[in-house]
Amino acid sequence: MSTAKTEAKRVTTHTLQEMKAAGQRIAMLTAYDYSLARLVDSAGVDVILVGDSASNVMAGHETTLPITLDQMIYHASAVVRGCERALIVVDLPFGTYQGDTKRALASAIRIMKESGAHAVKLEGGREVIGSVERILTAGIPVMGHLGLTPQSIYKFGTYVVRAREQEEADRLREDASLLEQAGCFALVLEKIPAGLAGEVAGKLQIPIIGIGAGNKVDGQVLVLHDMLGINKEFNPRFLRRYADLHEVITGAVSHYVADVRSRDFPNEHEQY
Ligand code: KIV
Repeated sequence: MSTAKTEAKRVTTHTLQEMKAAGQRIAMLTAYDYSLARLVDSAGVDVILVGDSASNVMAGHETTLPITLDQMIYHASAVVRGCERALIVVDLPFGTYQGDTKRALASAIRIMKESGAHAVKLEGGREVIGSVERILTAGIPVMGHLGLTPQSIYKFGTYVVRAREQEEADRLREDASLLEQAGCFALVLEKIPAGLAGEVAGKLQIPIIGIGAGNKVDGQVLVLHDMLGINKEFNPRFLRRYADLHEVITGAVSHYVADVRSRDFPNEHEQY
C-alpha cells in the first residue's frame, strides 16, 4: 500500500474560467495568517484573498488606507506557507499602483517575488487600466474590484450600496468591460444591486465574484473574521455568520482565567 501523500491540485486562473463555463460557483474567503489560511485551504475554498481588510481586522485601523506593501507581503507570505490548493490573490495596498504604472508594476513584482502568491487585486475602473496593462506585461494575473471600493472611502463618504443610480451603474458596466478587455482574469463586485451584478456576470466572459452583490454572479467572497463571527460590530445585510467565534473564544478565555485563579489549572495530570 502506498503511503505517498496525495497532493491537492492547485486552483489556477484557468480553473476559475472553467468553473464559470461549467456554471460551478467559486468560493473565495480572505485570510491573513498561516494558521487560519491552512484551515480555510483544507476546507476547500478555491481562492484565498489576502485582502487589505487586514488593515481593519488584523491591525485595528478604521480604513484600509494605512496598510503598507511590506505589511501585505508579510501577511501574504504567511498565507502562502499555509496553502496547498487555493489560488492566492493579494491586494495591492492604497498608494502603490494609482496614477503611476511603473510603480504599480514594481509593487506587483514585489508581492509575487517576496510572498510567492499567484495574483494581485486592485481597485478601480478606467483610471487604473494603465496599471493593469503594465502589470500584465510581467505575466502577473490581475483581479479587478468595482462597486464599493474601500480605498476610496474618503471620496464616497460612506459605505452605502453603490451604483443604484443610472449614471453610476452605466459607468460600472463600462468599467467592467474595460477591465476585461485590459486582461483582468476576474472581478470583485462589492455592495451593488444584485440585478446589476448579475447583468455584468452574464455579459462578461471572466468570473465575477460578489460581496453584497446577490447570487447571480459566478462566486462569492466574504471577510473570514466577519463570517466566523469574531467581529460582532460589523453587521451589513449581506453578511451571513457561519459561526459565533466571539462567544467561543471569550467563553474559552474566561474559563481559563477562572481556572488559573481558582488553581484548578494545571491539575496533577497537566504537570511533570
Ligand atoms: O480587502 C478585502 O477583504 C476585500 C474583499 C472585501 C473583497 O477586498
